[in-house]
Amino acid sequence: MLDRPSVTAPALEAPVRHGPEKPKMLSVADAKAMDVGTMADLFKDHINPGQFHFMKLLGFHKVKVERAEGMFYIDQNGRKILDFFGGFGSLAFGHNHPRILAARQEFQNEKRHEIAIAFLSQYAAALAKNLAAVSPGDLDMVFLGSSGSEAMEAAIKVAERASGRKNCKIVHAENSFHGKTKGVLSITDSTLYQGEFKLVENRYKVPFGDLEALTACVESDPDIGVVVLETVQGGGGIIQASTYYWQGVRALCDKHKVMWVADEVQCGYGRTGRFYAFEHHGVVPDVTALAKSFGGGKAAMGAMIARREVYMKAYGTPKTAMIHAAATFGGIGEGCVTAIEALNTLYDEDLIGNAQVVGDYLLQRLKVIQQRYPSLIKEVRGQGLMVGLEFHDFSRTLPLALRPVIAILDEKLKGSLSGFVGALLLRDYDVLVAFTEYNRNVIRLEPPLICSEDNVDQFCDALDDLLDRGIVGIVKDFIKAQMG
Ligand SMILES: Cc1ncc(COP(=O)(O)O)c(C=O)c1O
Repeated sequence: MLDRPSVTAPALEAPVRHGPEKPKMLSVADAKAMDVGTMADLFKDHINPGQFHFMKLLGFHKVKVERAEGMFYIDQNGRKILDFFGGFGSLAFGHNHPRILAARQEFQNEKRHEIAIAFLSQYAAALAKNLAAVSPGDLDMVFLGSSGSEAMEAAIKVAERASGRKNCKIVHAENSFHGKTKGVLSITDSTLYQGEFKLVENRYKVPFGDLEALTACVESDPDIGVVVLETVQGGGGIIQASTYYWQGVRALCDKHKVMWVADEVQCGYGRTGRFYAFEHHGVVPDVTALAKSFGGGKAAMGAMIARREVYMKAYGTPKTAMIHAAATFGGIGEGCVTAIEALNTLYDEDLIGNAQVVGDYLLQRLKVIQQRYPSLIKEVRGQGLMVGLEFHDFSRTLPLALRPVIAILDEKLKGSLSGFVGALLLRDYDVLVAFTEYNRNVIRLEPPLICSEDNVDQFCDALDDLLDRGIVGIVKDFIKAQMG
């Protein structure tokens, strides 16, 4: 008989490691339990100390969001903060829409695959089909990515190739914002964002909304093959152009066989009361791009949508097909499921119609407030739930006694009331609004498309009450808040 191998008791000590020791790290539970002070320290130490300075100036550094639901953030003290910022248009469905959450949970429970590189994805295919269904004309071909910048990079590349120009030049608008990645940075009209990076040189800049200027530019150089425009300028401070302009853009591009790229990353997805803002003007671009709310407020998703003919010209053969095929996370499973459920919800809940109706109510209430405070509010503008509130520049009208105090505050807030108003709306009224980098006098209002008239009343009553303090009261209260 053979000896049986002796059976030893399982070792109690830890298994032998072959890789490095685990560094000291925080767990998910640690992150969840973190207090605001630690959060601030880690942000300063590891993310962006300069940015923290601005957050502190506005009082945003005191908030730790514990939950977010519908129109509200709920902070560590149970305070409900009304979200009229909406992540610059990223939260069409508000926070954690139950239908979108459920679709994501089901996808996770079924252990579906995420990375759609080796095999085709039924979810990416369905999402692309849905995008073609909601897009007018033959805007049928879809590139999926994970941000607005990535979608816009894809947009300018497909347009450049389809333009057929060898030395293709591109026209963009003054005050444009198309993202910060290196390609689209060149057509983002901001010296701040452009820094001193080496930019692409094949570009022209024209005033936004000026058809004569655009025509003169396009006709000055036959190498111009692409015109890129936000349909409503968001970063510029909610700036619209006329139907005459958009119809002129379409005719001009047709005449000179130039590709028109409509950036709908911020203004699209139902925000203005139509799925795409260009639909208000009866025109269809050659290429467009979506992101922000396209991910249902839960996933990082972006899409470039091109006319079939345009796409095929650029990438339609086996030889050209891989030039700009999806990146690693393009068409990622849970992102696609989220976006499919979100698009269905957008129409099932008539959120585009809601944006129109509640947006009209918001504009109407703001115009009444403007009439009450004509020396503070310069203009109320926008469409649907994409609204800009522009204050007068008060740096010169402020009483002399207050000027030195203001001068010590940050350069960026000095001439603008919007920083003071935004900070006090949060501190005293539990309302969050957005600022505008290019025009410090503009507050951007892009609440979720689920916004109700009651939410508008809460916001407008707060604004009215705050403005009633008068400019001196507002500035003094802001300074007090800085000291407190
Ligand atoms: C009109 C427009 N295009 C592009 C982008 C870039 O999107 P992302 O920040 O997702 O890269 C933005 C972002 O604010 C935008 O407003």
